[in-house]
Amino acid sequence: MKMKVLVFFVATILAAWECHAYDMFPLRMNTGYGDRSTEMKCASWRLAVEAHNIFGFETIPKECVEPTKEYIHGGQYQSDSKTVNQQAYFYARELEVRENDVFLFSIDGTALSNVPYYSEHGYGVEKFNSTLYDEWVNKGVAPALPETLYNYNKLVSLGFKIVFLSGRLQDKEEVTKANLKAAGYNTWHRLILKDPKFIAPNALEYKSAMREKLMRQGYRIVGIIGDQWSDLLGHHTGDSRTFKLPNPMYYIE
Ligand SMILES: *[C@@H]1O[C@H](CO)[C@@H](O)[C@H](O)[C@H]1NC(C)=O
Ligand SMILES: [Mg+2]
Repeated sequence: MKMKVLVFFVATILAAWECHAYDMFPLRMNTGYGDRSTEMKCASWRLAVEAHNIFGFETIPKECVEPTKEYIHGGQYQSDSKTVNQQAYFYARELEVRENDVFLFSIDGTALSNVPYYSEHGYGVEKFNSTLYDEWVNKGVAPALPETLYNYNKLVSLGFKIVFLSGRLQDKEEVTKANLKAAGYNTWHRLILKDPKFIAPNALEYKSAMREKLMRQGYRIVGIIGDQWSDLLGHHTGDSRTFKLPNPMYYIE
């Protein structure tokens, strides 16, 4: 009998301990999540960025540098990027491909990774410096975002035309072509870079205007893949579905 009581007692303690670990101990008045850890706060911050509840930020919170680094290099960023690209593929493979069907890809942060640059600049905690960023772009050393490259190859095999639509200026055409090829993007139908004479209030209006132009030329935009909401919102998104890749490091309006 004593033994039974002891076993019951120990089991109760263990169960309580387990519950406690998840803040669910039934005997404890649970009024909230208690103090949030930095990791937890920064994970919530990233989720809010991805859901577009946080927007227009110039820098990431200072305390989120380490958690962002961990997110980017610890496997979660790769996993999130894979899921988004995979969904784009699952969508695309059900479509009947027509002659003028195009998939739009953003370049920076989508087709090409700029993690090498941002890892040298605090993962977005430093204010964006276009001089330094352009210097890095002009080296043409950006690696592919592997999950996007994988999906790109699948979409090419399905027969979709690929259009790269980027906010990079036209003076970067040669380095962009060379960089895309070096990274494994071997074919595309169009590469649209920004004419410096084209005046647009922001990336969202610029990209919308370029899509409008494509549609007037007879293309049917069936999908858009980008790491910024300004790649995906706006007008002339066509019959497309949009796919938002994660980007916790910066925001482009
Ligand atoms: C960008 O970086 C360069 C080189 O470090 C610096 O000279 C320049 O002042 C920076 N620009 C801004 C706007 O911070
Ligand atoms: Mg981008």
